[in-house]
Amino acid sequence: MVIHGPNLHLLGKRQPNIYGKVTLNELNKKLYQKATTNNIDIEIIQSNSESKIVDKITNTEYDFLIINPAAFTHTSVAIKDAILAVEKPTIEVHLSNIYKREDFRKHSVISDAVLGVISGFKEASYFLALDYAISCLKNL
Ligand code: DQA
Repeated sequence: MVIHGPNLHLLGKRQPNIYGKVTLNELNKKLYQKATTNNIDIEIIQSNSESKIVDKITNTEYDFLIINPAAFTHTSVAIKDAILAVEKPTIEVHLSNIYKREDFRKHSVISDAVLGVISGFKEASYFLALDYAISCLKNL
């Protein structure tokens, strides 16, 4: 399961110097291709709604979660609690290096609920996470 948080539907148009020029559709297509080539079923959603993200995390069957919580990274105890509740291996990803930006972005409320964080490699952050997810899923 891949979840893109708020405003990531604007990828490619939104501050491309920070988030990259690739659109969400292009990114998702490549994620599908890589997963499918590795015989992994993948579902990808983008939502601007905290409640929809919580519902997706807690009401869906999946073995591994890759999530870019976007702005909710810095605020959402609800998303953190959902991740803690389902106890699935989870990677938090960010396109930008959140530690190199404004002070309010330097703290993630999600990070201590996940396996690890990949931050700062633009779209490659997702592919590094997917590589790790695939290696885990192949060993299930
Ligand atoms: C982001 C970083 C967040 O601070 C920001 O609110 C985003 C995107 C990233 O991918 O770099 O929307 O999660």
